[in-house]
Amino acid sequence: MAKPKVFATHGLFEPARQILEESCDVEYWAQAERPPRPELMQRVKDKEGLVCLLTEKVSEELLRGAPNLRIAANVAVGFDNIDVAACTKRGVVATNTPGVLDETTADFAWTLMMAVARRLGEGEALARSGIWQGWNLDQLVGTDVWGKALGIVGFGRIGRAMARRASGFQMKVIYTDAVRAPEAVEKELKAEFREMNALLADSDFVSVHVPLLPETRGLFDASKFYRMKPTAFLINTSRGPVVNEAALVAVLEAGKIAGAGLDVYENEPFIHPGLRRANVVLAPHLASASLETRTKMACMAAQNVVALFSGQRPPNVLNPEVLQES
Ligand code: GLV
Repeated sequence: MAKPKVFATHGLFEPARQILEESCDVEYWAQAERPPRPELMQRVKDKEGLVCLLTEKVSEELLRGAPNLRIAANVAVGFDNIDVAACTKRGVVATNTPGVLDETTADFAWTLMMAVARRLGEGEALARSGIWQGWNLDQLVGTDVWGKALGIVGFGRIGRAMARRASGFQMKVIYTDAVRAPEAVEKELKAEFREMNALLADSDFVSVHVPLLPETRGLFDASKFYRMKPTAFLINTSRGPVVNEAALVAVLEAGKIAGAGLDVYENEPFIHPGLRRANVVLAPHLASASLETRTKMACMAAQNVVALFSGQRPPNVLNPEVLQES
């Protein structure tokens, strides 16, 4: 029997390729740049499976042009690039990669927090510049992280991984979420629930870990920033559109908050020029980018595809109603 045809929009990593190739006939996008839209549409036309990155929009239009498609497997936990409702309507299973990137992402949020608080970007530039004159008492003095209040917005797996790291830094942990965590979790992580406005007022670092949903789009606007302490920092490793970038630039320019550590942007890969400031540490969407974790993510997406085509339930289905119907 012919193997199901799959298009992967990336060469993936060898372990993921092995998983896929055992039961699928796979075509890979081998170029370094992301596939242009017309190319993607062309490649997916006759495919039954798609393995895609968060840079590819799986839209109604794409699905319409790929009538044989049965699965769109995202190599990411966030799936705002996938129109899940359109997938469901067309009987296409959508999957993501939850769980495997939580610790790595929390590590990176921590990296940004440390870097912006301790002015690592500026320090690194000075050390490389060749003009460093040596140690000085007030040189690039930053602010302590240890002992401060960490406010976590979104207390899912990644938010909780952030909280776990805070105890070694003797930090006070407060969090907000649409759903309050069970008491046992709060106790274990020594995390106190706050309403959003109270969290903003009490935090020295506000770290964002919510998914991009209609209700979180633009969540951080001027009204939120003005509730933060002028000495506080914003850290965002979730999705760019959760933060209104123009409003962030305005409060940074006005000195209403102390700085920001950002991994994600409203219109990636475009970065608002007003964010290129000394008190902002910028990263190019790297939070899950360790070889171990990215390999696990790719393998997970491959396993989702292989499971579907072998008649099993893919482990990370976003629209289970599609499977119930079949
Ligand atoms: C990365 O941003 C992801 O959603 O996995």
